Amino acid sequence: MKSILILGIESSCDETATALYDSEKGLIAHNIFSQIDLHKQYGGVVPELASRDHIKKLLPLIDSLTKENQLDLRDLDAIAYTAGPGLSGALLVGSVVANGLAYSLGIPSIPVHHMEAHLLAPLLEQNQTAMPFVALLVSGGHTLLIKVERIGDYKLIGQTLDDAAGEAFDKAAKLLGLDYPGGPAIAKLAQSGKEGVFIFPKPLIKKKDNLDFSFSGLKTSLLYKVQELESKNLLSEQTKADLAYAYEDAIVDTLIEKSQRAIQFAKVNSIVIAGGVGANTKLREKMKDIFSKKGIEVVYPSIEYCTDNAAMIALTGLYNLKEGISNESYEINVNPRWSIDSIYNSHG
Ligand code: KG4
Ligand code: ZN
Repeated sequence: MKSILILGIESSCDETATALYDSEKGLIAHNIFSQIDLHKQYGGVVPELASRDHIKKLLPLIDSLTKENQLDLRDLDAIAYTAGPGLSGALLVGSVVANGLAYSLGIPSIPVHHMEAHLLAPLLEQNQTAMPFVALLVSGGHTLLIKVERIGDYKLIGQTLDDAAGEAFDKAAKLLGLDYPGGPAIAKLAQSGKEGVFIFPKPLIKKKDNLDFSFSGLKTSLLYKVQELESKNLLSEQTKADLAYAYEDAIVDTLIEKSQRAIQFAKVNSIVIAGGVGANTKLREKMKDIFSKKGIEVVYPSIEYCTDNAAMIALTGLYNLKEGISNESYEINVNPRWSIDSIYNSHG
């Protein structure tokens, strides 16, 4: 059988990315342009600026990706794009380009759910993950616990009631005067922080069977602490590092505790961690350390496939195509609030 070559396009937030994935050879190449510098001065992503920059960068990225790999657009068998969830204007750019190109080439265009792509990302580097498993998806916009029976069968078993874990990191960084994105900035500062100087509450931990998260109270605790220390003129660099340490600890411990409960609840022996916050070293190491002692397999993608990328979009597009899923009308469809639970009921 002829192999299938898919172009993947990611534009749901502040990264413009493209990838080429071959059904026989695997990932051929991928590239990514991060808009971090564009949004840094605002302390978060500005949707209008994000869309405009995707418009500027997407076609040149596709052009260089194909040329550098001695391929032509006519070699493509399908184009996969992130149809949601994400920022509507940013998603629309990817959808317009993907559907326009696919229509003109006479090949299928495939809408992909961004969070499904995150949870399948480990398959870019290994053939198989033991099924069923629990996925902890932690990004700037989502904190989800999902029971995965098999590819395409997702049951949401826990989620955040307010802020996402990545959002909690980003807001804390802003409070401490650190750069966007906040996760890596807090993690770096926490390295020079001391244990036990500050302790933050771990939200919803006391409720025994609860699998949901809540991070907005944690952020408020930090705000009050910063205000108190500032008023006493005690907010030194070391104090900030101690705060970052305690804050990162509270998030990491909460994610681990809830994951542990989810594993018991779902009766599985394996967990996949993915999404931008999954790049957090403390989370990765602590999770592996605690869970391996209990005989639970911990799987996470390399850092480059943990944060937003198009390789995971192309891979998920291939699975969708094999299931016969495509956007047959080439309608410019996006779904900014697409829930992973309804993934195969309402496409894009
Ligand atoms: O998955 P992602 O790249 O984009 C979204 O789909 O949201 O996740 C971005 C989020 C940001 O909130 C960022 O602060 C967080 O992931 N992040 C981290 C780390 N690297 C990125 N959070 C904690 N530690 C990190 N090392
Ligand atoms: Zn993401």
